[in-house]
Amino acid sequence: MQTAEEKKHKSPAQEEKSEGIEITDLDAFSKEGETEEGSFSFEKEAGEAETAQENDSSSEVLIHMEDITKRFYIGTENELEVLHGISLDVHRGEFTSIVGESGSGKSTLMNLIGLLDHPTSGTYLLRGEDTGEMDDDTLSDLRGQEIGFVFQTYNLIPRMSALKNVEMPMMYARVPQAERTERAERLLELVGMKERMQHNPDELSGGQKQRVAIARAMANDPALILADEPTGALDSKTGHLIMDLFHKLHDEDHRTILLITHSAALAEETARILTLSDGRIIAERRGTRC
Ligand SMILES: Nc1ncnc2c1ncn2[C@@H]1O[C@H](COP(=O)(O)OP(=O)(O)OP(=O)(O)O)[C@@H](O)[C@H]1O
Ligand SMILES: [Mg+2]
Repeated sequence: MQTAEEKKHKSPAQEEKSEGIEITDLDAFSKEGETEEGSFSFEKEAGEAETAQENDSSSEVLIHMEDITKRFYIGTENELEVLHGISLDVHRGEFTSIVGESGSGKSTLMNLIGLLDHPTSGTYLLRGEDTGEMDDDTLSDLRGQEIGFVFQTYNLIPRMSALKNVEMPMMYARVPQAERTERAERLLELVGMKERMQHNPDELSGGQKQRVAIARAMANDPALILADEPTGALDSKTGHLIMDLFHKLHDEDHRTILLITHSAALAEETARILTLSDGRIIAERRGTRC
C-alpha cells in the first residue's frame, strides 16, 4: 500500500472538454485534494521520476505471472483449459492493451489479474507478493485497495447517485463518511461529472456512466486499473473521449492501466499491445500511435 510519505505531487495541467463537461486538470485536483495528511489520491510514489520511461525495467514490477493456467469444469469430468501457461510482467506506470478474438481468454486473464478468480496453476505475484499464498480475506482487501475495475456495462448500482456509487468502494475500505464524500466529489470533478453527481445511473448517458465508473475505480487510489472493454458499449466518439480520460490518468498520474479492447485504433494508442489467441500470448508490440 502507498503511504502518505511515499507519495508526492505531480504537476502537468491540461483542460479538456467532452459532452459539454469540463474535465478538471490533475494538477488542480492534486492541490485541492491535498489533506492534512497529504494522503489524497492522484499522487505518485516518491522517487518516481517525471521522465520515467514506459516499460522501464528498473521500475517496480507490479504484476508478475509465471506459467498461469486456468481450467473450468463444465460438467462432470469435462474440463476446459482456457489459459495455457501465461507468463507476463507489467511494470508500474505502464499502459498496456490486450487484444484478441472473442473467446481467446482476455476476460479470464483479467479476472485472474484482478484477483476475482484463482488460477488453476502457476504463480502470480502482485507487488512482489505471492497471491497464491493469500487467504480470501487478504485477497479481497488487496483487490479493494489496489485494483480499480472498469467494465463494458459500467456495473453502477442503480437507484443510487453517482456520488454514492463512487463512495461505495471507500465504504468497504472503512474510509470515514466525510472523507469519502469529499474524495468522491473530487473524483467526479476530475472526470467531468461534478454537475451530475446527484443523478442516478439511469439519468446518465453511456459515456457519463463510464466516467462515473472510472471515478469509482479510482476511489481507493489503486495501483492498477483494469478495464475490460470500457468503450465497447459506446459510440466511437464517446469511446475516444473515455480513452482520453485513461490517457490522462496514465500520462499525468502515472497510473498502471490494463485495457482490453476490440478497437484496433484504441489499442494502437497504448505503449504495449499484447495479443491473446486461444489462451496464449502470441504477440507483443508497441502501439503505433502511443
Ligand atoms: N466460468 C466459465 N465456465 C466455463 N467456461 C468459461 C467460463 N468463463 C469463460 N469461459 C470460457 O473461456 C473462454 C474464454 O472466455 P473469455 O470470457 O475469457 O473470452 P474473451 O477473450 O474475454 O472474449 P470476449 O472478447 O468475447 O469478451 C471461452 O471459451 C469461454 O466460454
Ligand atoms: Mg471478455
